[in-house]
Amino acid sequence: MVRIADIWHRIPGLKRPPPEFVGYDNLIAFITRQGLMQMEGDLIEVGAYMGGGTVKLARLAARHDKRVYVIDTFDPDMDTTVSKSTVPAAEVYRAFLKGRSMWEVYREATRRLPNIVTIIEDSRRVVLDEETRFVFAFVDGCHQKDCVKSDFRLIWPHLVSGGIIGFHDYRFDDWPEVTEAVDELMDEHKDDILDRHEIVGDYGISSILLTKR
Ligand SMILES: C[S@@+](CC[C@H](N)C(=O)[O-])C[C@H]1O[C@@H](n2cnc3c(N)ncnc32)[C@H](O)[C@@H]1O
Repeated sequence: MVRIADIWHRIPGLKRPPPEFVGYDNLIAFITRQGLMQMEGDLIEVGAYMGGGTVKLARLAARHDKRVYVIDTFDPDMDTTVSKSTVPAAEVYRAFLKGRSMWEVYREATRRLPNIVTIIEDSRRVVLDEETRFVFAFVDGCHQKDCVKSDFRLIWPHLVSGGIIGFHDYRFDDWPEVTEAVDELMDEHKDDILDRHEIVGDYGISSILLTKR
């Protein structure tokens, strides 16, 4: 069992580029193996934090003339989620930022990547253009059930057939609402889901990846 309270002290100090907390290299290897970069459409990430993972996705996307849409409030205090082990998400964000502004760290990390489209907004309020199409989406924003479901509902209609949506923190004990939300979504959409994979990332925390039929 992994808990935020157990891992956050183990995370190394900030470096350039900033750290990421998922294991995006494994995700990128998976995306590549699945042939998603050969399909028509862009990428989207909900929850970029300091942009360490965004930079990796954007470099991959740039090699295939794709864009990465990013949604984040870039404000630690906007996330009122409290983990099962009673750690407020905002406190975790602030701890790693060490007094710096999330937006400034993200902007500095991503400034050389013109294929990133940044949407500074609560993901529950975002509306995407009807013609937007994604081959890959990664959701790691607010870990409350309504947020996870809302993020799925925002992206799913724009995901191409054969495209993949991933959720970080699946089966992570500290954020049980992510697992509940994803399990309910998988049940509601079982006829539209072709395949599912779980990838164990950094700190032993898994992501679940769902392929759209
Ligand atoms: C766990 S962090 C993402 C970490 C990132 N995937 C990485 O590995 O570096 C979650 C991010 O989601 C953002 N967030 C939380 N609630 C949000 C919401 N309702 N809308 C948009 N972004 C949100 C936070 O600001 C934070 O940057």
